Amino acid sequence: MPAVQTSRRARPVGLLRWAPLVVLVFGAKLALEAAGEIVICNYEKFHLFDSMYRPRTDNFCVFNDVYLGSDVKGADFLASSLDYKRVAFANSKFPQVPPSLFKNFDDIRELYVRRCSVEMLKITRLLEKVYAGGNRIVSVQLDGNASNSLRELYLDGNRLHGLANLTNLPALEVLVLENNPLLGNVDLAQFGRMERLWKLDLERIGMTRLVNGLKRPLAELRRLDLSNNALTYVHVRMFRTFPKLEHLWLHGNKLYFMEADQVRTVMPAIRSIVIDDNHWGCGHLASLGKQLRDRGIIIRHGSCGTDRAVHRVCCSDETDLVDTRYLIEMGIRHETRVQQDVRELRAENDILRRELERLGSLLGELLVNISRPAEPMRANEQEDELMDGQEADEQPESNVTASFEEYEEE
Ligand SMILES: *[C@@H]1O[C@H](CO)[C@@H](O)[C@H](O)[C@H]1NC(C)=O
Ligand SMILES: *[C@@H]1O[C@H](CO)[C@@H](O)[C@H](O)[C@H]1NC(C)=O
Ligand SMILES: *[C@@H]1O[C@H](CO)[C@@H](O)[C@H](O)[C@H]1NC(C)=O
Ligand SMILES: *[C@@H]1O[C@H](CO)[C@@H](O)[C@H](O)[C@H]1NC(C)=O
Repeated sequence: MPAVQTSRRARPVGLLRWAPLVVLVFGAKLALEAAGEIVICNYEKFHLFDSMYRPRTDNFCVFNDVYLGSDVKGADFLASSLDYKRVAFANSKFPQVPPSLFKNFDDIRELYVRRCSVEMLKITRLLEKVYAGGNRIVSVQLDGNASNSLRELYLDGNRLHGLANLTNLPALEVLVLENNPLLGNVDLAQFGRMERLWKLDLERIGMTRLVNGLKRPLAELRRLDLSNNALTYVHVRMFRTFPKLEHLWLHGNKLYFMEADQVRTVMPAIRSIVIDDNHWGCGHLASLGKQLRDRGIIIRHGSCGTDRAVHRVCCSDETDLVDTRYLIEMGIRHETRVQQDVRELRAENDILRRELERLGSLLGELLVNISRPAEPMRANEQEDELMDGQEADEQPESNVTASFEEYEEE
């Protein structure tokens, strides 16, 4: 579609209101300090990247070279039509998106404010996609602390400390938090309400251990990036809450141990686990790599230079240091794992006992039915009766016992 502004419905009232004032148009270099100045965006083809990092071009109304100090209320943002749903800022700088933008563009669905030195980000109710990477964002505020519209949120390269304000986003499908080194060990339970999330990027957020307190699975999650953190140990069971996970990135951590024997049970859909650039000892890596590859899982390899490599993943034979840490950690893990195993076995045991009770009462019923005089039966049951009726009449108990043994064998 050509970027013809007149093809859009304009709001004459709004334009008339501003007509007597100085109007600064189309990419002029602006330094807005004084109150009451007006900035107008240019409706044009704008290039950005989509959720899979593919180039995307779409019509945006683009504000160029907007510089604002701490008093962001000084400027008014306008367009030839205020119905534009996508708004972008290029070469701009302001501590927060001026509130008047949302007031004037009251139907805004996409906001692009990459590399604008934003410190506080406000997300309004109708926004569906927000591109806010490469800023200095410390704080994010949602209208009413929730959004049922937001589907994609890009906050890579910021200064977030926590995610408290970002938990109530039930429509979210893509969340990119890459390179927020102050986030640390976020509990994956914080994403529990994002039931449609299929992509979660937690690369380089300063994570030292994986905490997964999710009560229910995130059933749509297909891509989970935990690369370039400081994880030392993972058990694939930590990913049991992601039944559709296809790609897992673990490279660039300090992993020296990973338990993967249950990988296919826990992650039936997994296609690749990237494990290179970690602190693997060659011995462990040899068996881990084999386990994964034997199950058809791709492990990407890096270039090792002169280092040792197994399955083309770099590793070290000097594992003394690693071994000590490994032993200490395994001691701790072992205890908690035994406890968890016991809990899981108890639960399974309960299920089995209930099943046994059910079978027992069924058997009792059967015994009662058999010892009762035969009632009129339907045609197919009569056939059965004719086939082995004689024997059963004489020895009803052996007939029942035999069938029970059969069940046990199964
Ligand atoms: C969370 O939201 C509240 C209210 O909207 C706000 O006052 C606070 O600064 C926000 N905190 C963070 C860390 O974003
Ligand atoms: C939003 O969440 C923050 C952090 O959890 C809290 O401090 C604030 O009071 C909440 N605001 C509203 C309006 O619920
Ligand atoms: C026992 O007989 C009753 C009545 O004929 C029937 O409803 C029931 O399903 C029978 N139970 C079993 C275990 O076959
Ligand atoms: C036992 O024999 C009776 C006939 O006397 C038959 O109806 C019933 O299906 C048999 N039970 C089993 C479990 O084979």
